Amino acid sequence: MLRTEQNELLTRTAPGTSMGAMFRRYWIPALLAEELAENDGAPVRVQLLSESLIAFRDTQGRYGLIDEFCAHRGVSLWFGRNEACGLRCPYHGWKYDMTGQCVELPSEPEATGFRATVRLRSYPLVERGGVLWTYMGPPEYQPGLPEYEFALVPPEHRFVSKRLQFCNWLQALEGGIDSSHVS
Ligand code: FES
Repeated sequence: MLRTEQNELLTRTAPGTSMGAMFRRYWIPALLAEELAENDGAPVRVQLLSESLIAFRDTQGRYGLIDEFCAHRGVSLWFGRNEACGLRCPYHGWKYDMTGQCVELPSEPEATGFRATVRLRSYPLVERGGVLWTYMGPPEYQPGLPEYEFALVPPEHRFVSKRLQFCNWLQALEGGIDSSHVS
């Protein structure tokens, strides 16, 4: 049996935790590519390592994964309008590109330079093997792309799926490797 403090150490993955730092050194499967099937389609909520994020695909087909909440008054960008290479907040119209940079701020003259200082947290999002992967760690430690064998074969040679399991990562892994399941 794990003691409470050991359990906390192993299962917490938010920013600033030990296991969170470890997971942030790998590419993580964030969602299925088919969930962002179209340019300018509806944005998708993504919860990863205790971070609330929004994934979207812009007008040019580029993927973005940015902080869910607008830097102005914290409105969820899940309600945003995905248009003309950016996600526009529905409240006061601040608009962000796929890097999280604010590219339009209607209530402030551009000459003040304020818009350029507004940027949401963002992570790279790449498609390999029908999966959208993200890397959430320090840029200087970003590993090579997740080009596993299954991700490089033609789509008709693989099957990818996703399911939601309401538990922490260790409970899922422990269930998966339970030797009684082998038989
Ligand atoms: S809350 Fe998003 S623009 Fe004001």
